[in-house]
Amino acid sequence: MANWKIIVAGCGGMANQWVGYAAERTGAEIAGLVDIREQAAREMASRHGLDVPVFTHLAEAIRQTKPDIVFDITIPDSHYDVCMTALKAGCHVFGEKPLAANLRDARTMVAAAKESGLAFNVMQNRRYLRSIRAYRELIASGAIGKPGLIAADFFVGPRFGGFRDEMESPLLLDMAIHTFDQARFISGADPVAVYCHEFNPPGSWYKGNASALCIFEMSDGSVFDYRGSWCAQGAPTSWEASWRVAGSEGTAIWDGHEQVFAERVRPNADGFIRETERIEAAIDWKGREGHAGCLDEMFAALEEGRPAETDCADNLQSIAMVFGALESARTGRKVHIEELLQR
Ligand SMILES: NC(=O)c1ccc[n+]([C@@H]2O[C@H](COP(=O)([O-])OP(=O)(O)OC[C@H]3O[C@@H](n4cnc5c(N)ncnc54)[C@H](O)[C@@H]3O)[C@@H](O)[C@H]2O)c1
Repeated sequence: MANWKIIVAGCGGMANQWVGYAAERTGAEIAGLVDIREQAAREMASRHGLDVPVFTHLAEAIRQTKPDIVFDITIPDSHYDVCMTALKAGCHVFGEKPLAANLRDARTMVAAAKESGLAFNVMQNRRYLRSIRAYRELIASGAIGKPGLIAADFFVGPRFGGFRDEMESPLLLDMAIHTFDQARFISGADPVAVYCHEFNPPGSWYKGNASALCIFEMSDGSVFDYRGSWCAQGAPTSWEASWRVAGSEGTAIWDGHEQVFAERVRPNADGFIRETERIEAAIDWKGREGHAGCLDEMFAALEEGRPAETDCADNLQSIAMVFGALESARTGRKVHIEELLQR
């Protein structure tokens, strides 16, 4: 088995999951920790009992430790520099979402990864859940016929404090990437065009827009409808959103928790409202959930010499949904994703 030497860039809150994973993985070894705040790197080392060097510059860390992989768990504004530095030095990159802070950087990073032949994979942990896997299988099995409308409701009211409260578009930029990526995962379709209305509802504790309604035209002819709020008071949905896919022969439901089923029109049913039968999805996916599941897939892909499910080229389609929605909200116009990606 390969022995992967890893440098961790960014030692804030989320890095704990990544460091914990690497410390436990057979055939992986953390070679050093990097943070522009040296103290954060030192604290990470002591928290996880790691006797490794700490650095304030990634390039220096790479020069001294010669890693195979850089974990990028820095803030979104630093993803471009970290990723490009790592790729230029011949390292694979496994990075946190969002791929980049803007679409131009995202395109440059994806092109650089392609040219280098190195892996650049993005954390989309919300694809790695038993229930979403069951939902995707249920729809792919043809149980509801051809999907026409994919609807996701996301209503949660967290009081984060900190940077999210100050962002212009906290919901679309920081959270919706997960739900948009899940819509692509569930449907197997890519975005074609988007219309979005973004706003900040009464009672919101965010400075920027904490709600958005988006309509996406998808490549299989279906429409993905997103209704989201990060300042929803009461009756919350799951953080995975609450899903309804309406197809030509039935409807598939995922409540974002463990309820996954379809109601399909009975064969030969007749009448004003047709009688349906209920199909319970088999929730039997055996992979690990969340970050561990996504990292398992990234390492498996590297070892098998294939692109990971959340390879950067694939992820460009998800991040384009975010930036397309933001542009539509700003201009009041429908945005075509292909045009956006060509610019
Ligand atoms: N997948 C998820 O569910 C999920 C959840 C939370 C956060 N995230 C993502 O994880 C990333 C980090 O979030 P966080 O909550 O840990 O943020 P954080 O602010 O707690 O930590 C980020 C760290 O990166 C460091 N840093 C910034 N620029 C750097 C650079 N150029 N080189 C080295 N270190 C640098 C900062 O000093 C800080 O310690 C973000 O992209 C965020 O969107 C993902």
